[in-house]
Amino acid sequence: MRLVPLSQAGRIAGMGCILRDTTHRERAFQSIQSSSQDLRKQMELSNAQINELQSKLILAEKMAAMGQLAAGIAHELRNPLSVISTSIYFLQRTLAPLSAKSAEHFQLIEAEIQRSQKIINNLLDFSKNSEQGRTRVDVAALLEQILALVKKELAVHDILVRKEMEEIAPCHVNADEIKQVFLNLILNAKEAMPYGGRLLIRAHNEKNTVVIEFCDSGVGIPDEIKDKVFDPFFTRRQDGQGTGLGLSIVHSAVQRNQGRIDFTSTPNRGPTFRIRLPMFHP
Ligand SMILES: Nc1ncnc2c1ncn2[C@@H]1O[C@H](COP(=O)(O)OP(=O)(O)OP(=O)(O)O)[C@@H](O)[C@H]1O
Ligand SMILES: [Mg+2]
Repeated sequence: MRLVPLSQAGRIAGMGCILRDTTHRERAFQSIQSSSQDLRKQMELSNAQINELQSKLILAEKMAAMGQLAAGIAHELRNPLSVISTSIYFLQRTLAPLSAKSAEHFQLIEAEIQRSQKIINNLLDFSKNSEQGRTRVDVAALLEQILALVKKELAVHDILVRKEMEEIAPCHVNADEIKQVFLNLILNAKEAMPYGGRLLIRAHNEKNTVVIEFCDSGVGIPDEIKDKVFDPFFTRRQDGQGTGLGLSIVHSAVQRNQGRIDFTSTPNRGPTFRIRLPMFHP
């Protein structure tokens, strides 16, 4: 509202009042404000998406670089190791009969050679990059095979397995690699529950993927190591048994099969590892 003096023959004859309807202006202002808020929210969302994508790319690049390095080392080590293995075999035969002490040392050497061979095989698995061998696979049946394999081992450690499996579609994957993925995740869960516990395995279809979850009631994964668990050679196992390659192999195998893997872990609770595998389309 605005007041204006009205003059007549140089004298103020009265006051005029100008009223302006500003509703439309306020409405326009409010709409601009809410659009700018929407825009800000969208920008925040896309920033988060970019950050997530970036960290995935960094991980993928790190994995690829580590894969090449690992394959190189593994190939270089395989030959000398097999020479050592053969020489040990001949030495044992040449020196027979062996004293108890010597026999013990030979056994130790053989066990360590086997352990090194296992590490080398794991390294080669981790660095595989072919996408071959993907067929129509009944993933639920695959899981049953693995569970049958580890059933006794889990029972001995007081680990109860529960399954909540919906009817899942066949997947387009390499069966051997996915078996290894399941085995590694189950063995990790076992390691995380030294005094027993529960392992829950869930599965359902989601869009074009089959989702399989492994949820354990073990020690959990603390925030400070969340970024490291997929790194090759990262291990927290105290017994010197872990190579730290388990989850790296899982990660690269899932990626090779055009799947995805992630996990969530709340403090003082075991993690949930979630795998998404592509459905088979004939
Ligand atoms: N289910 C789990 N609960 C708690 N911690 C886990 C779990 N799975 C993995 N981790 C942590 O991640 C680390 C890396 O796992 P990864 O499978 O790569 O290696 P590892 O189990 O230590 O050795 P390997 O697989 O060669 O036997 C483990 O040492 C453990 O600390
Ligand atoms: Mg492991």
